[in-house]
Amino acid sequence: MSTQTAPLAFSVTEATRLPVAERDAILQSPGFGDHFTDHMVSIDWSITEGWHNAEVIPYGPLQLDPASSVLHYGQEIFEGLKAYRHADGSVWTFRPEENGKRLNESAKRIALPELPVETFVEALRQLLAVDADWVPSGEDSSLYLRPFMIANENFLGVRSAHKARFLIIASPAGPYFTGGVKPVSIWLSTEYSRAGHGGTGEAKCGGNYASSLLPQNEAAANGCQQVLFLDAKTEDTIDELGGMNLFLVADAGKTLITPALNGNILHGITRASLIQLAKNRGMAVEERAVTVSEWREGAASGRITEAFACGTAAVITPIGALKSPDFTIEMGTEPGEVTLSLRAELTGMQTGVVADENGWMLQLTEAK
Ligand code: PLP
Ligand code: COI
Repeated sequence: MSTQTAPLAFSVTEATRLPVAERDAILQSPGFGDHFTDHMVSIDWSITEGWHNAEVIPYGPLQLDPASSVLHYGQEIFEGLKAYRHADGSVWTFRPEENGKRLNESAKRIALPELPVETFVEALRQLLAVDADWVPSGEDSSLYLRPFMIANENFLGVRSAHKARFLIIASPAGPYFTGGVKPVSIWLSTEYSRAGHGGTGEAKCGGNYASSLLPQNEAAANGCQQVLFLDAKTEDTIDELGGMNLFLVADAGKTLITPALNGNILHGITRASLIQLAKNRGMAVEERAVTVSEWREGAASGRITEAFACGTAAVITPIGALKSPDFTIEMGTEPGEVTLSLRAELTGMQTGVVADENGWMLQLTEAK
């Protein structure tokens, strides 16, 4: 649906910036998703003009007509990636083209326009050109980048909108889970599904997350930090967590097992990268149907020794326990060896202390 042919030129409107002392105080202890940088990217789309009006503007509230289609039928998609500060002061990001491609896969499913991947990457560059001082340098911190697209036509008929808007906001981030790399507990959702055959499970659309919030509240009420969703048909095969993919480590650390992409699971970029890193190490990687029964039996027999969640926000987070109304699988109170070593390799690459042999890093700003 994109009609853009020539590269878009961005206009830049300087914001009144947050005073340096206040910004530095935020960067010392950023939390996750609580604070936002001085600027944002905005690009408009219409069915007649294609993509136009590419701007970097001061961060601030959007003015939406109450009839804007996103407010009624939830036609919205988003992405998540991070910018990392390297020791020489330069800022880098990780596989941004993959996020651009996935945005377009989501756009197709939700009937939104596709954005050229070059424009997606250029938009990130433009934002970092003005807001690079917001990239923290502390351990386990980064600038979380949130590109998203909303349908924005003032019309109540139920059809795909003829106007849309793409935006990128940025938020300095520490670990997603408080407590750093400590194992988290996850709750097995037995009552609610995240996705079904032919649904939107593979798309990164807001609606998937809206439907995960009730089970997420159930998880919290049971002392868990995330929800694990099962395949709606079998009710035993594992899909993924509310906001992360899942891996199991088996055979004395020699095998990595993860649910195969079955049409319901988000194609995680961290997931794909870890599969590659594990293969590079000579590990066997099994992408296939994985059941809770297999996990239960494997943990009991000692074949499955580690479990972890992965994603941009979560990085690699060890799973200490899977809890359900009927049973608990205990995986231990300390992170596993393979979990920690894959995490060190991935984050080392992202922060520039491990060689980027796969060519995954893209430099966004110069050293300083
Ligand atoms: N699965 C879901 C539902 C997610 O929201 C995310 C996070 O983006 C992931 C998996 C992991 O994807 P990625 O590694 O690309 O961040
Ligand atoms: C991400 O990791 O980018 C996500 O969108 C997941 C969410 C839990 C913040």
